[in-house]
Amino acid sequence: MATRTIRIMGDEILTKPCKEVKQITPRIKELIEDMLETMYEAGGVGLAAPQVGVLRRIVVIDVGTEEPEPIVMVNPVILESSGEQTDEEGCLSLPGKCGQVTRPNYVKARAFDENMHEYEIEGEGLLARCICHELDHLDGHMYVEKVEGEIHDVEIEEETEEEA
Ligand code: NI
Repeated sequence: MATRTIRIMGDEILTKPCKEVKQITPRIKELIEDMLETMYEAGGVGLAAPQVGVLRRIVVIDVGTEEPEPIVMVNPVILESSGEQTDEEGCLSLPGKCGQVTRPNYVKARAFDENMHEYEIEGEGLLARCICHELDHLDGHMYVEKVEGEIHDVEIEEETEEEA
């Protein structure tokens, strides 16, 4: 395993649609392991393949509350979504920044795991938000397109929360 360089907003690769994974090759397995290591090292709760420069439909998620985790999603598709939540959202491709984004409060998705076994997953709250955020990356979209109000520094938000 190795960490890979996280692409930063402005890098053209983050605006491109990703291709489906046809089969899990040793190279794809290595990519998934590297994505997990990169996500954990960066302290993120999710990472999509284009963020490490690979235009494949793969995301990894670990929001710290679900079982089992980490969640590996290959060729993920959202089947259902409902409700609404508005909260601060950030991205490893725009470090130190965050902004208010409205997402569904519930999503049901279908994906394949790292062994190409198909499964369905349901998520609420942070997990639902994270699934939506990461899947957007696979179509070349970032949360900044959906931010309500200003994108601001994470530190300012933390101070505000402590004061509140
Ligand atoms: Ni992101």
